[in-house]
Amino acid sequence: MKEYQLKTKMKSYQWDELSEEQREVVAIAKEQIRHSYCPYSHFHVGAAAKLANGVVIRGANQENAAYPSGLCAERTALFAAGAQYPDQPVVRLAIACYTDGHFTKEPGSPCGACRQVMLETEHRYGGKMEVLLYGEDEIFVFDSAADLLPLIFVSENLKG
Ligand code: THU
Repeated sequence: MKEYQLKTKMKSYQWDELSEEQREVVAIAKEQIRHSYCPYSHFHVGAAAKLANGVVIRGANQENAAYPSGLCAERTALFAAGAQYPDQPVVRLAIACYTDGHFTKEPGSPCGACRQVMLETEHRYGGKMEVLLYGEDEIFVFDSAADLLPLIFVSENLKG
């Protein structure tokens, strides 16, 4: 038997420590909670995806009475980016969560499906996508989506 320990890296920032570029996407993700459709969970999630050409694609979670038919904020943004600008790498993605009348103190943690989609986005364009998770107390920054998902499954794995 062998045991492995998988390591990953993330950084914690305060708002005034972020760069202008980072603040831009975080601010848009925060704005976007207004467009969350969440009559079932009342948990608003906003997302913003910055493309290499400078365009920012906005996302927000969209729920459904048939629960699994809904979609997380990150995926609405990343899929919209792929559908509208298929040739533009996504360089930065931010999300912010809001419930009970305030943004969450702790940064929101993307679900497994969103992490997988982030990974595919990064892999598709062959560069790193920075991920920022907003919380009132701190903002987590991942240099690469791969840092959110060790033991990734990407196209190469399909070849066996
Ligand atoms: N949600 C997101 O939009 N992103 C995440 O990373 C986690 C969860 C949404 C899905 C659902 O609409 C609500 O939050 C509660 O799970």
